[in-house]
Amino acid sequence: MASGAREMSGVSIRSVTKNYGGGTPNAVADLDLEIPEAEFLCLLGPSGCGKSTTLRMIAGLENLSSGEILIDGVTVDSVEKGIFVRPEDRNMGLVFQNYALWPHMTVEQNIEFGLKIRKIPQPERQRRIGEVASTLGIEQYRRRYPSEISGGQQQRVALARMIAVSPRIILLDEPLSNLDAKLRLDMRAELKRIHSELGSTFIFVTHDQWEAMTLATTIAVMNEGRLQQLGKPEDIYERPANRFVAEFVGTLPINIIEMADDGALKAWMSAYLSHLPVNPSEIASVGLRPQSLDLRPAGAADTPRCAATILDIVPTGGNWIVELDVGGERLLALSGDIDGLATGRQVTFTVDRKHVHLFDSGSSRINVV
Ligand SMILES: Nc1ncnc2c1ncn2[C@@H]1O[C@H](COP(=O)(O)OP(=O)(O)OP(=O)(O)O)[C@@H](O)[C@H]1O
Ligand SMILES: [Mg+2]
Repeated sequence: MASGAREMSGVSIRSVTKNYGGGTPNAVADLDLEIPEAEFLCLLGPSGCGKSTTLRMIAGLENLSSGEILIDGVTVDSVEKGIFVRPEDRNMGLVFQNYALWPHMTVEQNIEFGLKIRKIPQPERQRRIGEVASTLGIEQYRRRYPSEISGGQQQRVALARMIAVSPRIILLDEPLSNLDAKLRLDMRAELKRIHSELGSTFIFVTHDQWEAMTLATTIAVMNEGRLQQLGKPEDIYERPANRFVAEFVGTLPINIIEMADDGALKAWMSAYLSHLPVNPSEIASVGLRPQSLDLRPAGAADTPRCAATILDIVPTGGNWIVELDVGGERLLALSGDIDGLATGRQVTFTVDRKHVHLFDSGSSRINVV
């Protein structure tokens, strides 16, 4: 591969499958992903869904069972074509879940290592080390060894070491997992800044949907080795492609109404759906985010309201989780104020129709036109 050319650094993953053998299911199944240059793509999904495997295949650390990976339109991996470009020739920066630093080198020597390999001259090396150390807040540890700093500090050194060489494609596997909440927030902002400064393509693995929502320009949601949805964070949240995405994304679990059930909740939803241009027999379940439940008696008079009893009100700092009972079924609402609400009180709620998520019997989204 031509190095130094910065015109294009997109990644194409075409029908990639990975099976580790021994009768295990596919770790990654028939994955298609086009990642344009300078994108900040988050691979999001639960533990074991194939995120790290995908990242390792892009890096060339794991071979493919079938399919093809291209960088800048050039094939770097294809079983069928017998092509395999070695990891060190792919010009990528990697920070993994277990970010191994060299234990016998100081923080500064760790960061310098990649620059030396790339034959960057000494004054320039010092300048870059100073810059990334300051960016990542690790200046005071420059002369310490990895064993003499905390896990979170080690994680930042691993990031600094990678960023120092300004790779065109940056692969990050849960690089913030060891940081406390405050530091994670700072580092998130820092990563965003680094992304816009470097203009590199970022592929970031996380199982934390909030992290993905706040960082990504595009999110790829995976489950059981398969791509579930590819879209902008707001699309993933507002228009989940299926029930898995709807239930995985969101700080509070989405309420699901099974239309096959009996009861007050289903009866209300049936009446509600009769106001929408949909065929009710196609709808197997309905998702309502707690944030979308309008608990106040006023508002949206064109939609029927559902009667409920408040079971509990839980403060979350600024908002309240209101637990509702509808004929024995439990529902969550998130409310910005609880004026007039109290445990045991009867309320009614409704939902704006743009926040009603409909799913068919195969759990796929049904769009209301
Ligand atoms: N070297 C391996 N040999 C056999 N199976 C493996 C190997 N590495 C991963 N797997 C299996 O492949 C599947 C995907 O693993 P992967 O590490 O890609 O998941 P992940 O999405 O990164 O999960 P996590 O969030 O827990 O890191 C899992 O079922 C895992 O057990
Ligand atoms: Mg992983």
